[in-house]
Amino acid sequence: MKKSKTILDIQRLYSEGQKITMLTAYDYPMARLLDRSGIDIILVGDSLGTVVAGHDTTLPVTLDEMIYHTRSVARGTSNAVLVADLPFLSYQVDIPEARRSAGRLVKEGCAQAVKLEGGVHVQETIRAIVDMDVPVMGHVGLTPQSVHRMGGFRVQGRQEEQAEKILADARAVEEAGAFSIVLEGVPMDLARQITAELHIPTIGIGAGVHCDGQVLVTHDMIGLCDKFAPKFVKKYVDLDEILGRAFSAYIEDVRNGSFPDDDHSFK
Ligand code: KIV
Repeated sequence: MKKSKTILDIQRLYSEGQKITMLTAYDYPMARLLDRSGIDIILVGDSLGTVVAGHDTTLPVTLDEMIYHTRSVARGTSNAVLVADLPFLSYQVDIPEARRSAGRLVKEGCAQAVKLEGGVHVQETIRAIVDMDVPVMGHVGLTPQSVHRMGGFRVQGRQEEQAEKILADARAVEEAGAFSIVLEGVPMDLARQITAELHIPTIGIGAGVHCDGQVLVTHDMIGLCDKFAPKFVKKYVDLDEILGRAFSAYIEDVRNGSFPDDDHSFK
């Protein structure tokens, strides 16, 4: 599908001081809806592991699963920039594998850019992927693929030493050539400092208002998730409840014989 927006448009929004909007999608219908609504970036996040597949973490998600979902999203995306996550174990072992994984997300998944988690320790990996002309979005702070090191999904960078480390990670991501960076689960003052220092757009999730853009997991903001919702999630609609009512109404209609009626039957 032809894309009208590219990472150059994201850079333009950034240099014009306009906020960048990003939401996640994992399938064609959600991609269509987001694309039509004018979102700047659609992220096929490995959060699909939790909100679509029902896992407790993103760790079980495979590269093949990411490619499948990214292709589906690509078919529904004609305007937004399409970014796909490199899942756990598709880029950590060595650089050739990371390049191949990134290449597959672009070649088979039709992504325009890839996102990966980490800072200083993945700097060379980011550089190597950027060198093969695949744009990279970084991701620092609360990095869900490091859940076991972090001891859970908790805000990062509250202590000075931790904050310094996150700042160093963000610098490393920028130096490696990433076109933008997600700041997740960090105090807003730290996000403000990183945003002021970097020359690439910061996209925040649970990082306060000072970032250059914002992202949420779509299933969280539309109320289609049974998991604990963190404080930073704003629920714009409660689809759990709305869809639950629709399904109950259907069951009732079938059971009492009012569906299908004449309007929904062939004469
Ligand atoms: O996987 C994902 O959806 C993400 C966003 C939370 C940024 O990485």
